[in-house]
Amino acid sequence: MNIGFIGGGNMAQALMGGLAARHADTTFVVVEPHAPTRAIVSRFIHGAVLRDVPSADLGGCEAVVIAVKPQHFHEAATSIARWVGGSLVVSIAAGIRTGEIARWLAVDGVAPWIVRAMPNTPALIGEGITGLFAMPSVDEAGRTLAERLLASVGQTLWVDDEARLDGVTAVSGSGPAYVFSFIEALEQGGIELGLSADDARRLAVATFVGASKLASASEEPIAVLRERVTSKGGTTHAALTQMSESGCHAAIVKAIHAAAKRSAEMGDEFGSAT
Ligand SMILES: NC(=O)c1ccc[n+]([C@@H]2O[C@H](COP(=O)([O-])OP(=O)(O)OC[C@H]3O[C@@H](n4cnc5c(N)ncnc54)[C@H](OP(=O)(O)O)[C@@H]3O)[C@@H](O)[C@H]2O)c1
Repeated sequence: MNIGFIGGGNMAQALMGGLAARHADTTFVVVEPHAPTRAIVSRFIHGAVLRDVPSADLGGCEAVVIAVKPQHFHEAATSIARWVGGSLVVSIAAGIRTGEIARWLAVDGVAPWIVRAMPNTPALIGEGITGLFAMPSVDEAGRTLAERLLASVGQTLWVDDEARLDGVTAVSGSGPAYVFSFIEALEQGGIELGLSADDARRLAVATFVGASKLASASEEPIAVLRERVTSKGGTTHAALTQMSESGCHAAIVKAIHAAAKRSAEMGDEFGSAT
């Protein structure tokens, strides 16, 4: 495969690393304006890492991934429009909708195939999960190619309504930050109880990894797994009662809604460019 990347930052590097590891014959054409980032990318991929679009042979790519921040997306998309007519274009930017991307990429009224993807940072170690949405015009070959790209860094999940990507963004795209926040709180509690910082971190992270693997291996509702470690009057019960009285669960659910709302707002905000 020959894959183009517009933007060679954190998420692009995770994807390129996964692709290079799983499909050793993959070659890349990367456009990245920032010289230090170009130097990092050049070290681990086969292909060309270039400063700007005109010097890159994007027309020879089977797929082009746009991996820039939402605020740079319009500029990046319009700069590649004339080179990507026959390619699949995969956007990993939060919020920006396929209708807008198609409008920015269309040449003579014809837009390339567009798939939106929402990966997350565990992609860096091949443990990500990516939500995917394809424009109706994308055929099976296009969906298969998009899936192949994202499956190189973890699991994939298709949604058939683009608005659901706001939910995916809120749960799994931003989700690693909530998990880190929870781990930080576990760590702090351990330190306050006299554990060393190293021990508190080790206990907190291993507990999260172990509980997550248990949840992943089980088909039972998560609530059942929780109840199984919560005997009435015991230590876990004391902790969960405190969490419930503090509105912890409700606050997390509200946080997910806030993230989804922001994702939709970003679609409006950055999608209005002409
Ligand atoms: N990080 C996450 O957890 C996550 C999860 C899911 C999706 N995403 C999405 O992934 C996208 C990239 O995020 P990131 O964290 O990888 O950002 P990042 O590390 O800032 O990478 C973006 C790169 O694109 C470069 N760039 C900017 N404008 C460009 C242009 N016109 N042409 C080519 N390259 C350009 C930037 O260069 P400069 O630094 O010089 O501007 C930067 O190196 C975002 O849209 C984000 O919504 C991120």
